[in-house]
Amino acid sequence: MRDAIGVHVRGVSHKFAGANVIDHADVQVKPGGFLAIVGDSGGGKTTLLRLIGGLIAPSSGEIVFTAGGESDSQSDHAPRGQSALAAAQANAISFCFQEGRLLPWRNVLQNVALPLELNGVSAQERHTAAREMLAKMQLSDSEHKMPAQLSGGMRMRVAMARALVTRPKLLLLDEPFGALDEVTRLALDEELRQLWQQTGTTAILVTHSIQEAVSLAQQVVVMRGKPGRILPAIVIDVPKDAAHRTSMPFVALCERVYQQMTLPTNEVVKVTR
Ligand SMILES: Nc1ncnc2c1ncn2[C@@H]1O[C@H](COP(=O)(O)OP(=O)(O)O)[C@@H](O)[C@H]1O
Ligand SMILES: [Mg+2]
Repeated sequence: MRDAIGVHVRGVSHKFAGANVIDHADVQVKPGGFLAIVGDSGGGKTTLLRLIGGLIAPSSGEIVFTAGGESDSQSDHAPRGQSALAAAQANAISFCFQEGRLLPWRNVLQNVALPLELNGVSAQERHTAAREMLAKMQLSDSEHKMPAQLSGGMRMRVAMARALVTRPKLLLLDEPFGALDEVTRLALDEELRQLWQQTGTTAILVTHSIQEAVSLAQQVVVMRGKPGRILPAIVIDVPKDAAHRTSMPFVALCERVYQQMTLPTNEVVKVTR
């Protein structure tokens, strides 16, 4: 398995224009782990993902990345002297968003190859790598299609292929399947689980769906209130077999997440302080 990176969010608070949106967030995911974050709308989930991805810096606290027992508060970079493809594939972190955010004027292959193109990878190498990802997502027949010709589910699969083409060590997913119908969503959940297992990447998924969180993650945290606070993590220890979504332990874990999501605000403050 490739060297995934772990993430340790330590006492992170964040303010936008003086207003606190995240209050003392503490959460940890080990290399190759799968963490799901669920919670109130406006509770700071997207902001937390942006902080972890390094798009913004926390007002206080720190985000530490761990790999092979070592810690580094920067994401690691490719050593000098390697090929552009290897350097692009050393890119540590990828994002995947709800709308997919495909470029409408580029076809499927060009969209998936984009992160490699931005890293200066040659056309031949980036198209080979993109075609490999498209094959994994059963999208080989669609490489010449434009985003407007695709269903919502296919667009999200293209977006996942694009997020994974750099072989990230950490994959950040912000409500990726939130706009899809339930049947498509269940299929994509299963594809995401398989990709996570095959690639060995660390995954952090923000989702509105308790079932999706419990079904995919090894650990679920609930983020509540304004400013957003993180409740104690719930460890998901049910086997992920085909029937797990209807098993008693699965339903009991969903119930625990639901209890945290509906906990009165004064209780949230007590358990997080
Ligand atoms: N760039 C920004 N500037 C100012 N306020 C922001 C910005 N991004 C998010 N916020 C505010 O921070 C809070 C948390 O937002 P967000 O992280 O998007 O929550 P969630 O993803 O849980 O719905 C909201 O009140 C939102 O309005
Ligand atoms: Mg959000």
